[in-house]
Amino acid sequence: MQNKTDKPLLKVEGLKQYFKVNGNFVVKAVDDVSFEVYPGETYGLVGESGSGKSTIGRSVIRLYDPTDGKIMFNDMDISKRMNKATNNALRTQMQMIFQDPMASLNPRKKIGDIIGEGLDIHHMYQSNEERDEKIKRILQKVGLAPEHATRYPHQFSGGQRQRVGIARALIMNPKLIIADECISALDVSIQAQVVNLMKDIQQETGTAYLFIAHDLSMVKYISDRIGVLHLGHLLETGTTEEIFENPIHPYTKSLLSAIPAPNPIVEKNRTALTYDYRSSGIDYTKGTNHLISGSHYVKCTDEELAKWTK
Ligand SMILES: Nc1ncnc2c1ncn2[C@@H]1O[C@H](COP(=O)(O)OP(=O)(O)OP(=O)(O)O)[C@@H](O)[C@H]1O
Ligand SMILES: [Mg+2]
Repeated sequence: MQNKTDKPLLKVEGLKQYFKVNGNFVVKAVDDVSFEVYPGETYGLVGESGSGKSTIGRSVIRLYDPTDGKIMFNDMDISKRMNKATNNALRTQMQMIFQDPMASLNPRKKIGDIIGEGLDIHHMYQSNEERDEKIKRILQKVGLAPEHATRYPHQFSGGQRQRVGIARALIMNPKLIIADECISALDVSIQAQVVNLMKDIQQETGTAYLFIAHDLSMVKYISDRIGVLHLGHLLETGTTEEIFENPIHPYTKSLLSAIPAPNPIVEKNRTALTYDYRSSGIDYTKGTNHLISGSHYVKCTDEELAKWTK
């Protein structure tokens, strides 16, 4: 949990991530987003498909060069060109778990080698025995058995594969794990198991999570704070309690109204609120932005294009 005196582990300030689509059109996938993640806490990022959640995750871990803005991680500026030491620190201290473990695990590699890859790349052991011991320990931590190390990804269930994904991130002893829809592909019962495992691991290791998801009920369960994203803008951020008890933005209200209630009497009377940003009275598109069919594609000048997609 966050300690008020802590300094943020991750501080994202005015992050912009634009992509060229064609001609003079760019998509402002992430537009001026700022938030902080404190050591050991879970920050949930929610929003509909295409709102820019994955793009934020990928910019933060520097799979992209941000168009603009500042990203501070563990007192290092990681938004610009990084020197070797900073790059190394980022590659070990920040890890990512992906939505589809089958697609992200090399089918021709044994589970032990998949999990040990980060250790191999960063030379994080003195001997092969130490390496194997680390892999064995991490397999146990995520609820798998040491003998699983010699099997291949297709020999596992979806839930087990996601445990492998978690083990692979965890073995690096990261300060921050970005989990992009890491439970969305799993059965609901397995989702709860994996989320509980992630919570236990957090208790034990103190790692922070940037937890990206559609499903607000799981986000509510795991997050200390939540940010609500829409069309690349962070509309609202607050503690989980604030967002659920007292949502301010109409889009947040509509997201919350879409969650089914467990009580059938309440559920029967539930009405989902619709949200139309065009009539919301909120200016998403300051300046000359031109919206195409409700998206955030904008036409820009040649100078803007050169600046934004350098
Ligand atoms: N590399 C890219 N090139 C061009 N456009 C992109 C690129 N990556 C993302 N986009 C666009 O940016 C917007 C945000 O995409 P993103 O994948 O971040 O959304 P998301 O919130 O993760 O959605 P989902 O919930 O479906 O995963 C979308 O309009 C998408 O088409
Ligand atoms: Mg996504």
